[in-house]
Amino acid sequence: MNFPPAPLEDWMRQYYFSARIDIGSSGVENFSLGELRALFGITQDELDEVVFRDSLTLGDEGLRKAIARRWHDGDPESVMVTHGSSEAIYLIMNALLRSGDEVVVLDPSYPQLNSTAFGIGCNLKRWRLQAEENFVPDIAAARKLIGSRTRMVVVNFPHNPTGASISVSEQTALINAAAEVGAYLFWDAAFADITYNHSPLSPPGLQYKRSISIGTLSKSYGLPGLRVGWCIAAPDVLAKAVQLRDYVTLHLSPLVELIARRTIEGADELLSIRRQQALTNLEILSAWANDHQGLVKWVPPQGGVCAFPGLPRVPDVEVFCHHLAQTDGVLLVPGTCFNYPGHVRLGFGGATSQLTEGLACLSNSLKSGKFRTGREVTYRTLTSEGC
Ligand SMILES: Cc1ncc(COP(=O)(O)O)c(C=O)c1O
Repeated sequence: MNFPPAPLEDWMRQYYFSARIDIGSSGVENFSLGELRALFGITQDELDEVVFRDSLTLGDEGLRKAIARRWHDGDPESVMVTHGSSEAIYLIMNALLRSGDEVVVLDPSYPQLNSTAFGIGCNLKRWRLQAEENFVPDIAAARKLIGSRTRMVVVNFPHNPTGASISVSEQTALINAAAEVGAYLFWDAAFADITYNHSPLSPPGLQYKRSISIGTLSKSYGLPGLRVGWCIAAPDVLAKAVQLRDYVTLHLSPLVELIARRTIEGADELLSIRRQQALTNLEILSAWANDHQGLVKWVPPQGGVCAFPGLPRVPDVEVFCHHLAQTDGVLLVPGTCFNYPGHVRLGFGGATSQLTEGLACLSNSLKSGKFRTGREVTYRTLTSEGC
């Protein structure tokens, strides 16, 4: 295994903690423990009763049941709870893929989805989402890439970073394409629960046995620091993942599992709050993009809380985003973190006031043209001044 550096994580390490305004992250506004306790009636006694013993390798039974009821057929046998869905990506790909295997993967994509397979030595066939086609996924193009040598098809809808998605019939076409050649279908549903023009897609597990769907509390549920994700897959696939987990994380914390179970049991309440916020923010962002035609090439997202606008007048989006972070304290993610220069990932899931202020700073920067100086710019240390 030879994993390449993860540029998105490097970018976040550099700016996430120091930014004054975050319009780069891909999740909704985060919840506190106090808010969760108030929403779900988690009492002090319940927390005090948690004993910090080891938990089960596949996860607490009650939590697995809650996940299976909400996203599968109710049977916990097919559920493994993971430390965020990133652990699921790592475990599943390392359990199922070997050097030389052919993997069809969306491009661009959340970097770990392609770089993990790449690091294992797989032969990647990239299903490109084209800016010129408004990032509309071309199912016929995917079908052409999927062939008898394909071991796994890796997709993520709604998609990070573009916000693109597919319809139910397109999902069925993809499942059929994978099934025709017996490939695994790796379905990253990190943003599944927030959609704008269609109902959320169901994870494909009930339709296709060789599918693996992963989910997380980090994105639509505003709990990235809880570190809870999961994968839904056939028990023999989970057994292979367990062999790897035995060398890294062993199991989750019982305290984390308690909070995660109560959250998933009451998930609709959390979701409705953040869905509403996402809708409000999306309207603000769409209006802003309309006011900046020529400076911003805008494709409205179908789901999730990030968009991937092009900045046609910006010669180097990485220089631009460094400048924005270091001069104005605004976190925006350059498309280069997704190997897609010319675009930026703009996250609109945060507090509405943050979005409004962040967009005002972005407007100033785009209009000022200060970023045009190029890579010779020396960036000064981040200050907390406004823009
Ligand atoms: C599409 C996608 N999948 C998986 C992850 C991993 O997130 P986590 O490990 O917090 O669940 C991310 C994080 O940004 C993501 O965007």
